[in-house]
This record gives sequence, C-alpha cells and structure tokens, in this order.
Amino acid sequence: MSLNLILLGPPGAGKGTQAQFLIEKFGIPQVSTGDMLRAAVAAGTEMGLKAKACMDAGDLVPDAVVVGIVKDRLQEADCAKGYILDGFPRTVAQADALASALAEGGQKIDAVVAFEVDKEALVSRLTGRRACTGCSAGYHVDYDPPKVDGVCDKCGAKLFQRDDDQEETIRKRLEVYDNQTAPLVGYYEKAGQLKRVDGMLPIDQVKQTVLDLLPGV
Ligand code: AP5
Ligand code: MG
Repeated sequence: MSLNLILLGPPGAGKGTQAQFLIEKFGIPQVSTGDMLRAAVAAGTEMGLKAKACMDAGDLVPDAVVVGIVKDRLQEADCAKGYILDGFPRTVAQADALASALAEGGQKIDAVVAFEVDKEALVSRLTGRRACTGCSAGYHVDYDPPKVDGVCDKCGAKLFQRDDDQEETIRKRLEVYDNQTAPLVGYYEKAGQLKRVDGMLPIDQVKQTVLDLLPGV
C-alpha cells in the first residue's frame, strides 16, 4: 500500500510535529520544503543564498525553485511507498504543478490534512518553538518542553531558535499564508481530498484525530 499525504496549514499549525508521528506509524518519509531549503542555506549553495533572502523576509521562495526540488525528491527510492508533503504545495501554481507531475507518473494524493489553528496561538507557538541542532527534534518552551532547558531529550545536543521565528517575521509569514496558501483549502475541498483537523487540541489529541481520518488505517 502506498500513502501520499499533504499536510496543509499555516506556520506553527503543527505540520512538522505531526509529520514525526506519521513517519513512525507508516514508515514513509517527510518531504518538508522548509527543511530542504534550510539545508541548502546551511550548505551555502547558490540556490540556498537566494532562498535565504526570501525566508528571512517571511516571503515565499519562487515556485519554480520549490517545484524543482520537490519533483527531484519524489523520484528518490524512499518515496516509492508514499510520502508526507509538509509545507508544499503553498500556492495554486505549486498545487497544479504537483498534480501534473503525479498524473504523469500515474500517482495521486490520498489525503490533504488541513490543520486549523487561531492566529494568536500560532504566534505563541512559533515564538516559543525550539529545535535540536543535532537530530532536528522539535520542542516548545511551554507546550512541549525538553526535560533539561535548552537540551534535546533524544540526542543531548543544544536546541536553537529558527531565524524566521521572530514576531515581526512570524506576522509577515501569517499574512503570506492568508494571501497565497489559504486558497488551497478550497482547492483541495473541491477536489474532495480535504480533511479538516482541529489543530488547537493538544499534540497527542491532534495525532489521534489525524490517524483516525486517514484512508485505510
Ligand atoms: P517551513 O519550514 O515550511 O515553515 P512554515 O510553513 O512557516 O511552518 P512551520 O515549520 O513554522 O510550522 P509547523 O506547522 O511545521 O509547526 P511545528 O510542528 O513546528 O517554511 C519556512 C520558509 O521556507 C517559508 O516561510 C518560505 O520562505 C520557505 N518555503 C517553504 N516551503 C515553501 C514552498 N512550498 N514554497 C515557497 N517557499 C517555501 O509546531 C510549531 C510549534 O508549536 C512547536 O514548538 C511545537 O512544539 C508546537 N506545537 C505543535 N502542535 C501543537 C499543539 N497541538 N499544541 C500546542 N503546541 C503545539
Ligand atoms: Mg515545519
């Protein structure tokens, strides 16, 4: 069985947090365009340098760049049994490009899980978010704290705060979401693929809700 999922939702909605549970449950990879772009920034590639300027400003990276990265990634062997798209597509143009690429390969998206979270909750989630410098595990200073302040429970490495998790940039990212990404909710609803989830619930309850609504589980 293969399972191709899209996790859709505003910055801070819990896409990355829930993707970690789904990786474990289904043994399929997370394909996070944000993580891939941050890796390109860290590697100092030309594409990474251009992407960094957009990311630091809270803007989207151009569609052509992101679509190219995702198409290449979905060809890799570990995606053969499915994947969890996190943070992609983010514009109607990206969604159309994905649909054409999948149709060419005789594939389809099985479900689009849309997380719904209030704006002020998103701001407080993002200002308090921390991630591990070693294994990338995610935390929140109040909602999902590590056992020892600033240290990863899983690997013992130091935690860090993302450059774009400053309040001014967060608010810009939320505005960009409303203008450019929110239309995808209607797009996938029309296609009969949308599954809405109350993302305001605690992490474990969101996890259970997502598992309950996935096809064939
Ligand atoms: P990206 O990395 O995708 O960031 P994002 O979409 O802004 O989403 P986040 O990663 O901030 O939030 P999340 O939903 O994963 O939340 P998380 O689980 O961490 O993109 C970054 C940038 O890259 C973009 O701004 C853009 O420039 C560029 N980019 C990426 N993709 C692109 C694309 N397709 N096209 C163009 N440009 C692109 O949770 C957040 C916090 O809340 C954590 O601390 C967590 O512990 C906590 N939390 C999670 N769930 C709950 C809960 N239920 N209750 C309480 N706390 C919770
Ligand atoms: Mg994320």
